[in-house]
Amino acid sequence: MAYKDVYAAWKSDPEGFWMDAAQAIDWDKKPSKALFDENAPLYEWFKDGMVNTCWNAVDRHVEAGRGEQTAIIYDSPVTHTKRTISYVELRNRVASLAGALRAKGVEKGDRVIIYMPMIPEALEAMLACARLGAVHSVVFGGFASNELAVRIDDAKPKAIIAASCGIEPGRVVHYKPLLDGAIELSQHKPDFTVIFQREQEVAHLEEGRDFNWHGFQYGVEPADCVPVEADHPAYILYTSGTTGQPKGVVRPTGGHLVALNWTMKNLYNVDPGDVFWAASDVGWVVGHSYITYGPLVHGNTTIVFEGKPVGTPDAGTFWRVISEHNVKSFFTAPTAFRAVKREDPTGEYVKKYDLSCLKQVYLAGERADPDTIVWAQDQLGVPVIDHWWQTETGWAIAGNPLGIEEMPVKLGSPSVPLPGYDVQILDEGGHPVPTGELGAIAIKLPLPPGTLPTLWNAEDRFKKSYLEHFPGYYETGDAGMIDEDGYVYIMARTDDVINVAGHRLSTGGMEEVLAGHPDVAECAVIGVTDQLKGQMPVGFLCLNAGADRDHAEVVKEVVKLVREKIGPVAAFKLAVVVDRLPKTRSGKILRGTMVSIADGKEYKMPATIDDPAILDEIKEALQTIGYAK
Ligand code: COA
Ligand code: AMP
Repeated sequence: MAYKDVYAAWKSDPEGFWMDAAQAIDWDKKPSKALFDENAPLYEWFKDGMVNTCWNAVDRHVEAGRGEQTAIIYDSPVTHTKRTISYVELRNRVASLAGALRAKGVEKGDRVIIYMPMIPEALEAMLACARLGAVHSVVFGGFASNELAVRIDDAKPKAIIAASCGIEPGRVVHYKPLLDGAIELSQHKPDFTVIFQREQEVAHLEEGRDFNWHGFQYGVEPADCVPVEADHPAYILYTSGTTGQPKGVVRPTGGHLVALNWTMKNLYNVDPGDVFWAASDVGWVVGHSYITYGPLVHGNTTIVFEGKPVGTPDAGTFWRVISEHNVKSFFTAPTAFRAVKREDPTGEYVKKYDLSCLKQVYLAGERADPDTIVWAQDQLGVPVIDHWWQTETGWAIAGNPLGIEEMPVKLGSPSVPLPGYDVQILDEGGHPVPTGELGAIAIKLPLPPGTLPTLWNAEDRFKKSYLEHFPGYYETGDAGMIDEDGYVYIMARTDDVINVAGHRLSTGGMEEVLAGHPDVAECAVIGVTDQLKGQMPVGFLCLNAGADRDHAEVVKEVVKLVREKIGPVAAFKLAVVVDRLPKTRSGKILRGTMVSIADGKEYKMPATIDDPAILDEIKEALQTIGYAK
């Protein structure tokens, strides 16, 4: 069937389409129907079915006689380690870990925070929670104690599973001290923690609260899979919104399994047994969907890569891993390719490896610039597919569905909407705009299975953030257009979220930190264009009257403050002191205009600007740090 037929089949009978896709999942009790819309505009899928994620990701492959197949390949250039784990080993390890968690009181519905680097134990911790019906919330290692504490207070975990340390090129990330700091800061205290001790740094364990990963499994009864309702939360994943308070995206169990499994063949074009590699981190949605759950549910081999695109040890690492482990589909962020391209523009490292196993490459997480796509196509000689999605959706909204039909690539577009998504471009008043015109990108409700049904403990915020602006639609927060062939183009965010090296960050959150500095009276953070990372945050500081401080000192202090409060992942390194911020007459800071100035782009003088002369001051300040040329 051609893409347009599959899409039309979904559109004319979504119920049939998703019930059909649901057959690929092992249900403890089959759902009677797909969509439950009695609480519209809140929707649920497969709600009366019972199912277990870990069974579908692990045990069923063992039962089907594929226990010896490799489930996980761990490849860690930063520790010079490689290891494989078969499906049967994975089942045994996860059952034992789940049994130990249960022996300490973790049951269905309890939350467990996971704070771990890219090691197989991170996936095992996720799967052990899924086995019990416990709800995990993985926190990315690049976040500092304060961010972890915010998540502890929101999710209220019974337990936290962490590693003693992580390894970044040139430094050890002290996970355990960061965790101790977070528990001290948080109001809610977990009952206990489980620490995976790594040999690179062994952490101090607090008697009675911290348990050793191996030790606490001694003598426990392995746990079986606990069936849960299909609308039971599989996990919570916090993502950046417009404020410093992150949004807890809830992932529903049943729809998640059905949708991810469907994408593995139809979008990523792999069959069970094939090796699939997403070079991301379990702390992000890509890691949840395509390092852990998607490949394992579909019976693929997944790769846990602990390294960077460059410098571990060189710009050939990606190609070595692909060639050595026989990777068929590879998924990464455009920024990673830009980093490789910068070091190896002519692809000398590419030539060193036999990449005949590689059939297709996928890019997501940020806008894929045409230069990068063309470079990758030329170097690798396979389709390079841009696809667009969000933490909220958990899987692609638009992409080139290679497993159905290879659509012609249009540079600058992540191709066409996937079945399940009725993508529309709306004007401010919520009316569809003509083909080819820019507007807010919205998705007609209901969203498909696997997408967020709500935000954790924040249903009102969910409605307000996503459903209220355009009644009957989900507001994506992205702006763009659809062309005459139905291809979607993603141009910019409509809110203050920025994307730095494929990492989604809140400028509002950074502003809250800057405002906390005793000498800062007022501030703004914007995302400026960066050749490598896509965007970089830049801070503008107005100091308190009478703050007779050396500006460079204050800048140094706020840079340190953001690193301490949010974490190194914020990549906040640039700030300038200015006398005033450009505002509208009603007092709104003109961030969009500041971005245009920084990027050296033409801009229209905002009609409502209070004092146009301030824009020249902003330009001069930006020039001192190398922007606004
Ligand atoms: N734990 C702790 N710190 C981390 C971390 C982690 N898991 N991941 C990143 N950091 C730190 C980095 O060490 C860096 O710290 P520094 O300021 O001391 O140098 C900081 O956070 C910023 O990291 P990043 O923005 O990633 O920049 P980088 O210079 O380390 O690397 C790239 C640049 C392009 C190589 C890198 O960003 C990259 O590989 N990006 C791919 C992004 C990706 O896969 N995104 C997932 C979405 S699909
Ligand atoms: P995250 O929730 O971290 O996955 O970030 C989601 C946001 O990243 C989207 O709302 C977009 O702004 C951006 N994004 C993700 N994929 C793409 C893409 N292929 N093209 C353009 N922007 C993208």
